[in-house]
Amino acid sequence: MVANAGIGIMAPIAEMSLADWQRQQAINLDGVFLSIKHAIPAMKKQGGGSIVLMSSVAGLRGAPGLAAYSATKGGVRLLAKSVALEHAADNIRCNSVHPGIIATPIWGKIPTGAAGNRSNAPIDPRERAEAVVPLLRVGEAQDIANGVMFLCTEAANYMTGQELVIDGGMTAGGRPVRR
Ligand SMILES: NC(=O)c1ccc[n+]([C@@H]2O[C@H](COP(=O)([O-])OP(=O)(O)OC[C@H]3O[C@@H](n4cnc5c(N)ncnc54)[C@H](O)[C@@H]3O)[C@@H](O)[C@H]2O)c1
Repeated sequence: MVANAGIGIMAPIAEMSLADWQRQQAINLDGVFLSIKHAIPAMKKQGGGSIVLMSSVAGLRGAPGLAAYSATKGGVRLLAKSVALEHAADNIRCNSVHPGIIATPIWGKIPTGAAGNRSNAPIDPRERAEAVVPLLRVGEAQDIANGVMFLCTEAANYMTGQELVIDGGMTAGGRPVRR
């Protein structure tokens, strides 16, 4: 079971409305909780399974302007570890995936600004990736799908409660200075 659905709402934390905070949590955390809750009985019945939760590099380190988003993704990271421990004896594995900057439609629908004066955050993932990713390119959905597929197969049979980071090296440390 892959819990992939998610949204990002951009706002300085002191200006974020409670409604936006709650919507962010509802989709990125409540949705993941419900997916796990209903997958586990089916997996138990069949003798095991693999749960993959989509987190983010924003679940590993802070993300200014995306504090509410990073709170959900940090939550997903530890949710995966706790579920992994709770259900290891049921042969159910649970891991989190942490993408960096990936070229998907999410970047074109990150709302920013106060209610009534909403616009989309003007973020071009390709430009941003070229500026901060050591591999010097944006990630593609396939890069993430490859990692998810690995976690779902027997090749990952001895892996549970772990974080698979797929970010072009973004969180490895500082990017080498280009001359
Ligand atoms: N694209 C990136 O750079 C990036 C980086 C890190 C993490 N992620 C995470 O990857 C996951 C997939 O995002 P994406 O980049 O493919 O974005 P996307 O916007 O293309 O896909 C998100 C999907 O979630 C679905 N969704 C949203 N709200 C829903 C709801 N209430 N119920 C059911 N489905 C709902 C949307 O319909 C959409 O299909 C998300 O959890 C996102 O936070 C993306």
